[in-house]
Amino acid sequence: MADEIVRWASPTSYFRRTATRDFEMHGKQIKAGDKVLYWFASANRDEAAFDQPFRVDLGRNPNRHLAFGQGGPHLCLGMWLARLEVRVLFQELAKRLKSIEPAGEQKFLRSNFVAGIKSLPVRVTTK
Ligand code: HEM
Repeated sequence: MADEIVRWASPTSYFRRTATRDFEMHGKQIKAGDKVLYWFASANRDEAAFDQPFRVDLGRNPNRHLAFGQGGPHLCLGMWLARLEVRVLFQELAKRLKSIEPAGEQKFLRSNFVAGIKSLPVRVTTK
């Protein structure tokens, strides 16, 4: 469940890496030394990798999203904590709330690196 939330949110916008060797990808030539950006929101909505990528499916399995990296040497060391935080947040909300819905305009963080919501008014009914 937490992974689908993180896939959907893709909180990191992009990373840049330096190619260590020549490589061809989708017909594009990448040369050793080229700087390459990868966009998490795009990778995490890749229809070649995900069935109905624009659908939030909390039971999605497998869910090989890239939001924490994917097995390289810089794989996110905090991903277990991040998953736990997301799970506990929704568990606690589900215990207390009957419903939750948007009640105003969301404001995004002013950042070209972190795709975060700064504020999102919601209307809730409690149990
Ligand atoms: C939803 C929350 C989070 C997201 C989306 C996220 C995302 C990422 C991504 C994309 C990377 C780079 C992966 C790669 O290049 O292979 C990374 C690295 C890292 N993350 Fe996270 N992260 C999150 C939470 C956390 C937390 C809570 C911590 C610490 C408590 C953390 C600590 C780190 C560290 C230390 C690295 C660098 C590892 C290295 O360079 O060897 N992250 N994270």
